[in-house]
Amino acid sequence: MRYPPIVKNMPHILHGGDYNPEQWIKWKDTIWKEDMRLAKLAGINTLTLGMFSWTALEPAEGQYNFAWLDELMDMLAENRIAAVLGTPSGARPAWMSSKYPEVLRVNESRLRNVHGERHNHCLSSPVYREKTRAINEQLAQRYKEHPALAVWHISNEYSGECHCPLCQAEFRTYLKNKYKTLDALNEAWWAAFWSSTITDWDQIESPGKLGNGGHNGLRLDWRRFTTEQFIDFYLNETAPLKAITPDIPCTTNLMAAYTGIDYARFAEVLDVASWDSYPQWTSAEGNSTIGLRTSYYHDLMRGLKRKPFMLIESCPSATNWRPVAKLHRPGLHKLQSLHALAHGADTVQYFQFRKSRGGPEQYHGAVVDHFGGENTRVFREVADLGECLKGLDDLVGMDTPVETALIHDYQVRWALEDLKGLLQEKTAYGETLIDHYRAFWKRGIALDIIDSQQTLEKYRLVIAPMLYMLREGAAERIDEFVQNGGIFVATYVTGYVNESALTFLDGFPGSLKKTLGIRCEEIDALYPGETNSIEWDGRTYRAFDLCELVHREGAEVLGVYGSDFYAGSPALTVHRRGKGRAYFIAARTGEDFLDDFYRHLTTEAGIRPLFEELPEGVSVHVRSDGKKDVVFLMNFTNENRLIPTEPDKPGISLEPFEVKMLRSETNT
Ligand code: GLA
Ligand code: ZN
Repeated sequence: MRYPPIVKNMPHILHGGDYNPEQWIKWKDTIWKEDMRLAKLAGINTLTLGMFSWTALEPAEGQYNFAWLDELMDMLAENRIAAVLGTPSGARPAWMSSKYPEVLRVNESRLRNVHGERHNHCLSSPVYREKTRAINEQLAQRYKEHPALAVWHISNEYSGECHCPLCQAEFRTYLKNKYKTLDALNEAWWAAFWSSTITDWDQIESPGKLGNGGHNGLRLDWRRFTTEQFIDFYLNETAPLKAITPDIPCTTNLMAAYTGIDYARFAEVLDVASWDSYPQWTSAEGNSTIGLRTSYYHDLMRGLKRKPFMLIESCPSATNWRPVAKLHRPGLHKLQSLHALAHGADTVQYFQFRKSRGGPEQYHGAVVDHFGGENTRVFREVADLGECLKGLDDLVGMDTPVETALIHDYQVRWALEDLKGLLQEKTAYGETLIDHYRAFWKRGIALDIIDSQQTLEKYRLVIAPMLYMLREGAAERIDEFVQNGGIFVATYVTGYVNESALTFLDGFPGSLKKTLGIRCEEIDALYPGETNSIEWDGRTYRAFDLCELVHREGAEVLGVYGSDFYAGSPALTVHRRGKGRAYFIAARTGEDFLDDFYRHLTTEAGIRPLFEELPEGVSVHVRSDGKKDVVFLMNFTNENRLIPTEPDKPGISLEPFEVKMLRSETNT
């Protein structure tokens, strides 16, 4: 399968980055020209303009100044550089904050921020929405025919929340639409608890730090509402763009580790998913682990739309906001960039093209340093990469072939974060998902990371660790998947609550009981350092943190606990249902168990890795259009590595941080 290129008529890997030329407007005759020369020298074919340019574009209310942007758009077109055009809502002009204080954000303590920084705006303010829409409309009208216009980059890293009176009113309207009656709302929030019953819609307040933070039903709905507000804000921004330039794709830069927005829901309105990746290479965690985590995040972002995405920001060198702004070792830049392509990105973009001279990010890595010219190590590495990317047109739009899915659900994460019980500090939803992911990553077996609302037909194996909340239709889809021959894996802390975070009253794991053929009764939380064990397949594995006590209701017991009062009771089960099987891992286990267990399961599912053995720190990922495969072999370590192939053959060697790309016919 091959998707169309992100930019119509531009079947190349996009290479470029955020460019803030308005900072250099006084020196434009020299700097802007020099920037064009340097961009071309670095093999850059796209630059992002306008993202934080509101004051430069509208210095006084209603007085627009597009002259400088006109000039730049023309320069980009002359130099055959595509423009990713930013909308400026990420930071507002000071005149706007002064005249309309309602545009400023109000924090959880109900204090209004003063003007400054960025991302500091109310999501509901009619004034802010009107101003945003107006400037976006101006931009679209002005550049609709411009040959440089390629992508709309909406705002910047949508995040945070606003607790102003306007947002409170919107929240109440959202709840009225959702619940219709207060009775339904009170039941969903289990409001009789601590006399929390609401008797008038106006009594509802967003959760915050004023003694109203604790009710999980309220918190869950507030986060859902905030997600919907961002979507609504985004749609308000894109309305004029879609009307005037319907063929130009719209996106906004996401942050894979951010959990304040349900990105699975948000992605529904994006034309293409894009994200900002800033791995902290060469840190105490070790580059193999950073490689693993970054792979996970790339897959999480690709899974949002299950098609190629944009690496819309990355850093070619030291990231200034890290506690230790470590330089990227030589070779790491190419590795991190091709790594993204391996996982389904069709772009390599940076923050930033030219380092700013002052301000909060003046020491953030950039293609062009304060020194200015091309004679720097970082510039040379970017230019080398640019050269390499020119030879990768065949990758554009290629799919990522997968047979396995890992379910990650933002709303499950929210519900778990609010759960009081189990292990307060170590519920560790995200880390648990990465633990399961690792067993596949180490063997070069690709996964999609998908939301629990996604369809499952295309997979042979679906893994859903800690699926604590069963959202609408999720259990039914999983059951159908199993009945049709799929292999499903669930773990401890599955199926406790419905979408309102109300527990199921007929036993856990709720409506997955029949699929898994078990009933969970209690769960034991273990102290740090305390362990139990799982006896399975002739081996003893460590169990720790959480051990669930399981009754068999049709499932077969494969493994049992080794100690404590539940010694001998089920710790690993399988239930044959329809044409498929559903496994349940009752306790948190270490890497050894997950490795062995998933090796067993992938064999059973007929999922074969490309290489039988991969050395530590080497990862393999494939893109394919169904006819041709491109296999990426990546060495995240700073040592030579050898991938064994067939006996008596020399194998494939990789130097430190090396990436090899092998092309072959698709073998189906
Ligand atoms: C984010 C923002 C950029 C910049 C970088 C710095 O990704 O989108 O504007 O601040 O961080 O790493
Ligand atoms: Zn607000």
